[in-house]
Amino acid sequence: MTLNPKLTKLLNEQINNEMSSSYVYLAMAAWFEGTPYAGFAKWMFAQSREETMHALKFYQYVVDRDAKVELQSIATPKSDFQSPIDVFEHSLKQEEKVTQQINDLFEVAEQVKDHASKNLLLWFLNEQMEEEKTVRDMLDRLKLAGNDPASLLVLDREAGSRPAGGGGGKTDFGGDR
Ligand SMILES: [Fe+2]
Ligand SMILES: [Fe+2]
Repeated sequence: MTLNPKLTKLLNEQINNEMSSSYVYLAMAAWFEGTPYAGFAKWMFAQSREETMHALKFYQYVVDRDAKVELQSIATPKSDFQSPIDVFEHSLKQEEKVTQQINDLFEVAEQVKDHASKNLLLWFLNEQMEEEKTVRDMLDRLKLAGNDPASLLVLDREAGSRPAGGGGGKTDFGGDR
């Protein structure tokens, strides 16, 4: 089945959105590298890699569907932040934006009755739910820690123990495409 032109365009846009996300997280990792929070830097770096894997998953899908990949330019990400809370608040906004994008894509896939695309997008919708939850949980605990250095360092250490390149296993790209 030929991939619908509108869906093709949106899937190509999503390759760009995920690469942009990767860049956003890389800028967050770089910001944390300039602070004592090595664990958060590692977390953001891992998240950046995961977003690249998302982009590659969309890329491979467009290729597998025999449609044309069209790459676009990536905007400069925000690079200055006030605090760990500020970074995670931006991260949550970023994830909510992507969830909306995937939701919109799913609706188009539904309109054109492309069930294979719907299946791919369901995987991403679950992924988004998980990522939003992970970020929201960390944000809640950061708010609880407030300005207490000891509490912040505990959270930093926890963030640093996250497996590289994955969000706790289940969200790992892991070759299940
Ligand atoms: Fe993503
Ligand atoms: Fe994400």
